[in-house]
Amino acid sequence: MSRHWEEIQKKLESIKGKQLFRETKTYQGIDFCSNDYMGLASNKSMLEYYHSIKDLYPFGSTASRLVRGNYDSMDQFESKFANFVEGEAALLVSNGFVANFGLLDSIAAPDCYVFTDRLNHASILDGIRISGAKKKYYNHLDLQHLKSLLEKANAEDSSQKCKRIVVTESLFSMDGDSPDFSKLMELKKEYGFVLVVDEAHALGVYGKEGKGILFRDVSIEDIRSIDYRVYTLGKSFGLEGGIIVTKQMGRDHLVNVMRPFIFSTAPLPIISQLAIFALDLLRSMDSERKTLQVLAEELKKSLCSFGFAITNTASHIIPLLLGSETEAMYYAKRLQEMGLDVRAIRPPTVPSARLRISLNAKLSIHEINRLVSSLVQIREESIALNS
Ligand SMILES: Cc1ncc(COP(=O)(O)O)c(C=O)c1O
Repeated sequence: MSRHWEEIQKKLESIKGKQLFRETKTYQGIDFCSNDYMGLASNKSMLEYYHSIKDLYPFGSTASRLVRGNYDSMDQFESKFANFVEGEAALLVSNGFVANFGLLDSIAAPDCYVFTDRLNHASILDGIRISGAKKKYYNHLDLQHLKSLLEKANAEDSSQKCKRIVVTESLFSMDGDSPDFSKLMELKKEYGFVLVVDEAHALGVYGKEGKGILFRDVSIEDIRSIDYRVYTLGKSFGLEGGIIVTKQMGRDHLVNVMRPFIFSTAPLPIISQLAIFALDLLRSMDSERKTLQVLAEELKKSLCSFGFAITNTASHIIPLLLGSETEAMYYAKRLQEMGLDVRAIRPPTVPSARLRISLNAKLSIHEINRLVSSLVQIREESIALNS
């Protein structure tokens, strides 16, 4: 074996030794793990709409959006989406990862400070890394810590030669919690930093008509002052794609410098047409949004009453904390055997092993109860096995 393959083999052995080996597996069982929060990925009217338009588009977009891959439906979707979230302009890209990665690489540089919540998504952290900016982690949701880092930067760079950028998710996908946006907006006014907010997991679920957590927590004026907002079509839209909402000048800049936008094939042409339809559908789903919150409250209450430890979640993402990777893997395996699709999330994705239970509006209270009784049964089995 060559040196390269020996290294790979060693790495894999080390991953396996730490119970961190990952495999791709086709899903089975009731969905307690996807990000299809509104059930649109298999929604009946979406499916009918898809059948009605599927002959109008080629399979692939055949080139980047700057060459031959741009379609009217992409421009129409962007303008409709920007309007929906009160933004000046939007840019549709292949997915949310590319949106964060490309955006941060485009707006940050080695002479910038980027302040990031310690638990921000990999696409954000990688975008900062590739930009070469000075990365400053603040403790998860700790805006007091952020303030102290901003003060420190002011002391280090009193002439403000370096640009300051702050980036956060609006709903943390592995913990289910959110920052205090009123306080963050106050800090923005005080320190004048560029603000990037990723609404990936909140779009479609929170705020009026599913516009996101910002619309629930702060004023329209504050929202308009946010420099960049990132969204994905891969979660509650049930599709695939990423969207950056910003000023028209911000969009023009990205179109000219954002490498994964310029040097990659455009999203599938049909996606933007489906996204236009999905947007109208999502706006009308108030009763599903309510159902989802009722289910989430019920599950949290039940898990706590049975003594399970969950994160400090305020959402439909309810991570159940377990003692070790082995325990998390055992619970996930047993739940899957019982027909419940729950997945274990382990380091390095998260700091400590957990079951990431994510609910969707298609679930019933009966299925929530079944999940809880199965968890109780697995805990009893596991105690018996270890005694
Ligand atoms: C906060 C956050 N942003 C962006 C992404 C990436 O989005 P996409 O799945 O569309 O690539 C994810 C993916 O899980 C995410 O959790």
